[in-house]
Amino acid sequence: MGARQREISVSEFFTKNRHLLGFDSPRKALLTCVKEAVDNALDACEEGGILPDVEVKLEIVADDGTPPPASQASRFRITVTDNGPGIVRQQIPRVFAKLLYGSKFHRLRQSRGQQGIGISAAGMYSQLTTGKPVQIISRTGPRTPAHYFEVQIDTRKNEPLVHENKKIAWDRPRGTQVTLEVEGKYQKGRTSVDEYLDQIAIANPHVSLTYQTAEGETRGFQRTVEQLPEQPREIKPHPYGIELGMLLKMLHDTSSHSLAGFLAADFSRVSPQLAKEICRTAGVAPGSKPREVTGDAAEAVYKTLQATRIMAPPTNCLSPIGEKAILSGLYHQIRGEFYTAVSRPPAVYRGNPFAIEAGLAFGSRPADGDNAKAKSKAKAKPEEEGLPLAEGEAEESETELSRLVRYANRVPLLYQQSACATYKATVDTTWKNYGVGQSRGALPQGPMVIFVHMASVWVPFTSESKEAIADYDEIRKEITLALRECGRRLGVFLRRRGRAQSEFRRRNIFELYIEEVAEACNRLKGGKLATQKLKEQLQKIATSKTGGLKTDELLGRTGAGPEGLPDSIIVTEEGIEGDVGVAEPAAAPEAPETATITGKKKLGARSTSKVPSPAEKSPKKSAKKSRKKS
Ligand SMILES: Nc1ncnc2c1ncn2[C@@H]1O[C@H](COP(=O)(O)OP(=O)(O)OP(=O)(O)O)[C@@H](O)[C@H]1O
Ligand SMILES: [Mg+2]
Repeated sequence: MGARQREISVSEFFTKNRHLLGFDSPRKALLTCVKEAVDNALDACEEGGILPDVEVKLEIVADDGTPPPASQASRFRITVTDNGPGIVRQQIPRVFAKLLYGSKFHRLRQSRGQQGIGISAAGMYSQLTTGKPVQIISRTGPRTPAHYFEVQIDTRKNEPLVHENKKIAWDRPRGTQVTLEVEGKYQKGRTSVDEYLDQIAIANPHVSLTYQTAEGETRGFQRTVEQLPEQPREIKPHPYGIELGMLLKMLHDTSSHSLAGFLAADFSRVSPQLAKEICRTAGVAPGSKPREVTGDAAEAVYKTLQATRIMAPPTNCLSPIGEKAILSGLYHQIRGEFYTAVSRPPAVYRGNPFAIEAGLAFGSRPADGDNAKAKSKAKAKPEEEGLPLAEGEAEESETELSRLVRYANRVPLLYQQSACATYKATVDTTWKNYGVGQSRGALPQGPMVIFVHMASVWVPFTSESKEAIADYDEIRKEITLALRECGRRLGVFLRRRGRAQSEFRRRNIFELYIEEVAEACNRLKGGKLATQKLKEQLQKIATSKTGGLKTDELLGRTGAGPEGLPDSIIVTEEGIEGDVGVAEPAAAPEAPETATITGKKKLGARSTSKVPSPAEKSPKKSAKKSRKKS
């Protein structure tokens, strides 16, 4: 027995447990590889202060001879290229071929990646299923050469093996390109690569993305916000967020010379004054050497830290998406009639600051188009037109459930929905209060997309594959509050619209008779009546009896904003109410099939078949104005 004991390296562990990293089925594995590479690309660009231009390419690898159709292929080459700051040559092998190696784990700063496993795990999966090394090109600037690497993991040691390392000519001044050859399955629809990229576009309107699908079509997602999100700051841990073991480690590693100095320097929100007070309460000398504070003394310090009232951590380490950008993302990606967004103020769980944002896109809206004919056609046969629809638009039945799109630090979460705090909070919200049907323990019904985003310096995922957010009370509460506010606004919109519609119907009935009544009166008067004047007077009475101008306003017939509904957009046949706030997409999608994601054609209005050059891109303008004209 003793002779058989052996160390297990982390890569050996994850080779056997690849499902923990999101590689359990070929379809999911393909998505995970794309996701890890794209997340890294976006993180790198944002950290470098560069507006991300990312290209994703899926190619079918033929076993021999002609490649099979995309749906039957089992091997793919994934290439993700970014315009980020690049990676220095010495780091490349370890970044791509050593698990648990990265720049984000040891800091408290909001980013998509946090564990240092993502891309090397994708590389390991590639090695495991196809035996091919990961190919990397990276360049840190126009004056330095680009480096080409081929690396694999030595799984027994969790160390990189470099197969190729050379300088090459690359047509890009800066950036990184990763190529992985993997076993996978390409299928459109829910939880597909296509859906993932579509959802990226909703929450990242500052990203420009080109996607070449496995079927060879090219889709472009243009950026609609020309500014990078605010750079999140790095913060120190908050005393409430640490455990005793972590305190011991910090005491051991610190460069401070005294306990009080350590407390003030290594934690957020502990002033020198407070540090001394904590030492005194704990009964440990403030001047003691941190390394010598162990055992009972350390425990006393830990307990005092937890019992002392300390200000919540600073929240400038968070960079939420913001209501305007969420509205813009939803509006451009999902066809609906009513949109709203809520950004909650930051809160704290286990000492980690976080912020919750929620949004809603409700209803079914026919395709945008200048002529009314196209509109009515689209309305009559939305399925055949191949237009992207809001969730449930095609379904007449009441039982169609709304759709939840979940994000953590701007990354769409596609799997394990029911394990996620966002799902639990959505299901537990009483949507009936807001005029939307809901069965017990289910998502609300109706044509609706619900958006929830958690921004945090450390997102508590339920597993290493980063698919669901753990259910902390503080997090659940914030999500619930955000959803309730969205629901409340939706309720107001639905109630008002319902009332206005019935008034409007009544008015139409009156109007039908006005013509008749005026003519009859004219006949009685022997044809001498001023019929036009009478009609106008009757018209006035009909309007005032059916809610007057208020009805027109509520149905969006006057051009006034969605009154009383902050951060909302209402779309009616006449135009949109509420400010989209950012640039409109340059062109409506030309090819309908490229603008759909799921089998039911639900999202994806921002896609175009071609990415325009920068000159073609639409300038910043208010969408409100441009829409009104049409
Ligand atoms: N495209 C890229 N450009 C620049 N740096 C990159 C790029 N991809 C990865 N890196 C660097 O490599 C590191 C390791 O990436 P990896 O995806 O393995 O881990 P991570 O992103 O830190 O965390 P996670 O496991 O949660 O994804 C990153 O922390 C980052 O510093
Ligand atoms: Mg990563």
